[in-house]
Amino acid sequence: MTANTPIGIHDLSFATTEFVLPHTELAAHTGVDIGKYHIGIGQRAMSIAAADEDIVTMSATAAAPLVERWGTERIRTVVLSTETSIDQSKAAGVYVHSLLNLPTSTRVVELKQACYSGTAALQFALGLVHRDPSQQVLVIASDVSRYEPDSPGEATQGAAAVAMLVGANPALIRIEPPSGLYTADVMDFWRPNYRSTALVAGQESIDSYLQAMAGVWKDYTEQGGRPLHEFGAFCYHQPFTKMAFKAHRHLFSTAGYDLGENDMSAMLRLTTAYNEVVGNSYAASMYVALASLLDHADDLSEQSIAFASYGSGCVAEFFGGTVVPGYLEHLRTETHRSVVERRQSIDYATYRTLHQRSLPEDGGHHMTPRQTTGPFRFAGLSGHKRLYERS
Ligand code: COA
Repeated sequence: MTANTPIGIHDLSFATTEFVLPHTELAAHTGVDIGKYHIGIGQRAMSIAAADEDIVTMSATAAAPLVERWGTERIRTVVLSTETSIDQSKAAGVYVHSLLNLPTSTRVVELKQACYSGTAALQFALGLVHRDPSQQVLVIASDVSRYEPDSPGEATQGAAAVAMLVGANPALIRIEPPSGLYTADVMDFWRPNYRSTALVAGQESIDSYLQAMAGVWKDYTEQGGRPLHEFGAFCYHQPFTKMAFKAHRHLFSTAGYDLGENDMSAMLRLTTAYNEVVGNSYAASMYVALASLLDHADDLSEQSIAFASYGSGCVAEFFGGTVVPGYLEHLRTETHRSVVERRQSIDYATYRTLHQRSLPEDGGHHMTPRQTTGPFRFAGLSGHKRLYERS
């Protein structure tokens, strides 16, 4: 290993929920023209967590195949990013660490900054590997997005977890050092500790996202980043997939490029295939877009990919990576497709019942109904302690 040893994403796997609500079913209740969902925001379905699923079960499901393929010996850090935290003190990753039987000689921590925190976790992981290239970091981004029923945000709900193994000589993507950064104190989306649903100023969040794109691009350029035309593909945070197209148009015009509509859809449509049927998975969203790109593009070997991460509040980051030749052999395309296709479709009434569920706060012994057919489940609460099990 030398100072120039490439570091990046060695493996990537994603998981989502047991249930799915098609937007046609939502539209039948809201009376909204389906065109607004399918075309206006670019969403067709949303993943809905079963009563016995949460960020921990999705995280363990996403990470288990990585551990199975590469073993646990080199993993010394687990960073779990989420804005759907389940405890104010204990990191959700500790439960995941236990479910995956990771070694005790591991540090585990949780990160938060809205939908940006998955990128923070990745960047911190790169730093740890740079310090000791023999180590790997398990980075997980996992979220369940929830808005008030009948609010504008409702149609953008979703849920997913992405697990990435970060290490030296990666098999998938080499991440490049320059990063463009942007932070501004904005109240475009937030969730006070006493609320189970987020508060959002919709249009303000779109404007803030676009402003952040201009900010990260300016800083990326000043940090010696690549010119925009060198990137062969772009992965954006996708709170709804149409947002990727808005961000792309804004980034190109900010950078002084003229972008035809056709060019734009050709470059972006491969990144939206999973998100348009999964919905907003907050911290995981941009990495679900990456999974979609890798799984649907022909051969991206040696192509540069741009990553544009945004989290309300707000923090954003722009950075680049290069696809490693031979990466196709390491993809999990069939599994990812089946993760999406195996979900059970539910009707509006079932969705509302799940949405309204809240956990008892009396410290009693409460078992959750068995609904998930996934490998891990949230079995219930006892004495204020969450119980998890393998299915
Ligand atoms: N057919 C096709 N398109 C239609 C349509 C129809 N029948 N009806 C409306 N649309 C289009 C609108 O023209 C608009 O397109 P545009 O954005 O290109 O102008 C789009 O659908 C959305 O319509 P709008 O009236 O703006 O929707 P809304 O007020 O319900 O709010 C969000 C949309 C995204 C703001 C809302 O879903 C939200 O608050 N989401 C959560 C926050 C979020 O995701 N923020 C993003 C940054 S992180």
